[in-house]
Amino acid sequence: MRRIPLDQVQPGDELAVDVKIQSEHPGTLYKLRLPVGRSLTRRDLKRLKTLGQSYLFIEDERTADLDELVHDEELAAAEEELNAELKKTVDGFRQEKLDQISAENLNNSVEGLIESLKNSPVQAAFTSLKSHNDYTAKHSLDVARLALFFVMAYEDKFYRFATSQTGASASFTLKYWLRDLGLGALLHDIGKWRIPRYILTKEGPLSDDEWEAMKRHPSLGANFLRKLRRKNIIRPLVRQASLHHHEKYGGGGYPAGRKENQIHLHGRIVAVCDVYSALTSNRAYRDGLLPSRALKTMETMQAEDRHFDPEILRLFLEFIEPFPRGLEVDLDDGSHGIVCDHDHQGRPIVRILSRDGEKLVDPPEIAITPETGPQIVDT
Ligand SMILES: [Fe+2]
Ligand SMILES: [Fe+2]
Repeated sequence: MRRIPLDQVQPGDELAVDVKIQSEHPGTLYKLRLPVGRSLTRRDLKRLKTLGQSYLFIEDERTADLDELVHDEELAAAEEELNAELKKTVDGFRQEKLDQISAENLNNSVEGLIESLKNSPVQAAFTSLKSHNDYTAKHSLDVARLALFFVMAYEDKFYRFATSQTGASASFTLKYWLRDLGLGALLHDIGKWRIPRYILTKEGPLSDDEWEAMKRHPSLGANFLRKLRRKNIIRPLVRQASLHHHEKYGGGGYPAGRKENQIHLHGRIVAVCDVYSALTSNRAYRDGLLPSRALKTMETMQAEDRHFDPEILRLFLEFIEPFPRGLEVDLDDGSHGIVCDHDHQGRPIVRILSRDGEKLVDPPEIAITPETGPQIVDT
């Protein structure tokens, strides 16, 4: 199975994962459903394009050994459930109908995501990102998944951070802390649903007024979450990611220009995951960066204005594999392939699937060495 851009899918290619494009209106049916195993027609591809689908999962025997890295079924199901709860919450927020929001369902869905992350092969968390049509919803799920997976990988360290900085009592448990982080990460941009759509999707630079409006989203979100808190729908910690995720460690962020430990730990964690998700996501107007390039960009940001908590960034750089297995890459000799392994020095081994657009039936594997041979194009 491979995850490939829609414009590279050919009629006759076989769908490896169901496509379900939901209608935006709650309670209504799907706009389009295509079952696994379907041989795609020209008409299917045209409709998918019109509906804004950018990727498909396609059967490919040559990469069958990497299937669970490309798409983790259980993880995708957990995300779908979480996405449904996110939608209900967003609707409740937009219409000021707090009763519509169920804390139990939200928490259960976050719990479901945590459980499936525990069982998921490491790289799947970065390569199986399903393409949602709605950037904000997809981004929210990305950030929740990343934040949880990251913190779970360094559980002891974060537990120490959390207890030392909150002075938490014995009743503090990592379980709740983790759930609150997951929920906070999922809802970190909820304030954006109150920002005019044309500002969110504008391609060029924002005007001063538009930028001022945009900068209100952390407080708008946090105010809404305070209301949920008052009704005992969520715990107090959940607000912190929304309120603090655009603060910079070195100061100069928004909304309040907090610094260092004035920024809540959840905010500092989500800040790192938020930027990584934004850099690696495909948007309407540009392709996402490869993980390797995104990590370099974040290092540059850090050097410029101490954007992130240095210790959290250090762990994150260690945590993210720059060329994860299952990632599709272009090489500078005109070939295209998939990272299938790493050599003993951790350098990627690429299985070459096509050369100059010509499909290779018996794909060779080559190790990418920095000095010689083809290089991965990662700009
Ligand atoms: Fe944000
Ligand atoms: Fe964000």
